[in-house]
Amino acid sequence: MLRSVVLSTGAYLPARVMTNAEFEKTLDTSDDWIEGRTGITQRHIAARDELTSDLATKAGKQAIESAGVPADSIDLVILATTTPDETMPATAVKIQQQLGITRGAAFDLNAACSGFVYAMAVANNFIISGQVKRALVIGAETYSRILDWNDRGTCILFGDGAAALLLERQEQKGTNDDRGVLFAGIHSDGQYASLLGTQGGVSSTRTAGTVFMAGKEIFRHAVARMPDAVEEAMSATGLPLSAIDWLAPHQANQRILDGVAQKLHISPDKVISTVAGHANTSAASIPLALHVASHDGRLKRGQLVACPALGAGLTWGCTVVRW
Ligand code: UT7
Repeated sequence: MLRSVVLSTGAYLPARVMTNAEFEKTLDTSDDWIEGRTGITQRHIAARDELTSDLATKAGKQAIESAGVPADSIDLVILATTTPDETMPATAVKIQQQLGITRGAAFDLNAACSGFVYAMAVANNFIISGQVKRALVIGAETYSRILDWNDRGTCILFGDGAAALLLERQEQKGTNDDRGVLFAGIHSDGQYASLLGTQGGVSSTRTAGTVFMAGKEIFRHAVARMPDAVEEAMSATGLPLSAIDWLAPHQANQRILDGVAQKLHISPDKVISTVAGHANTSAASIPLALHVASHDGRLKRGQLVACPALGAGLTWGCTVVRW
């Protein structure tokens, strides 16, 4: 059976770190409130001349170098992002060019904070159908460009960053012991589109717009739908929830991560959390968490990691990978 096996990861965070305390100068908020309600202590912010493509290229390059494969052997580059460099061409083709890839295909995918799980589902389907041998899945965002810095309910939540997974088609036995993607489920329901989005956009206002969110409602959907997505994914594999070695959810709020783990009866020490240091980096948050955990030695080859996400749309889903 063909599987999409993770060869390597890469990540990049902009140098500039913005602490919670910096918001106290301009907004009616506090470090205590932000950390207490979200678990966030700081976020990285891209420099003025640093674009989503720059962040993504650095993450992609690290993944390619760490796998030790020629860049030009990559058949597919999928960039999950809500913050492309320009409206067109797709930011993914700039990344493809900057990585020295001259063949195959590259495109952007927008599923907001669920972008990574959507991109994994798409890449996996190309790989297991035999069409693609190597795919680079990147989540990269510069949310700092679309935040309303006067809205304390949203601007404190997000950060910039990028991370990449290099996937390779490999023949495996066809059992749950196989390495690679065991299930990649995605969902959406547009009736909830008004809960989270941008005020304005290319076709509606000729601008990129700024983020708005009905925080409480999104919180409720997140703690209900992410556990459902994990249960769906695990039952599709036939494995029990207890087979999960690591839960690496979308990193929006520590209270959401705790709530998801609690519903699934997964112990907090099996939850990979980067929300304190990165804040919510949207499509980049899960691959960043996977990169951190695989590099610090927690996430080991052969272990099972479940990655649920929820984002604007609403979109949600879960990728289950044996590392
Ligand atoms: O990636 C997927 C999308 N994002 C998420 O999943 C995030 C989901 N939502 C959340 O994480 C939480 O809803 C928030 C962190 C956004 C808000 O936390 P909350 O516990 O739901 O607070 P709240 O919105 O109910 O606000 C409580 C109070 C309000 O004041 P009043 O009405 O009680 O007087 C807010 O105006 O806190 C106020 N507030 C703040 N106070 C200080 C809201 N933001 C701030 C702030 N600093 N930054």
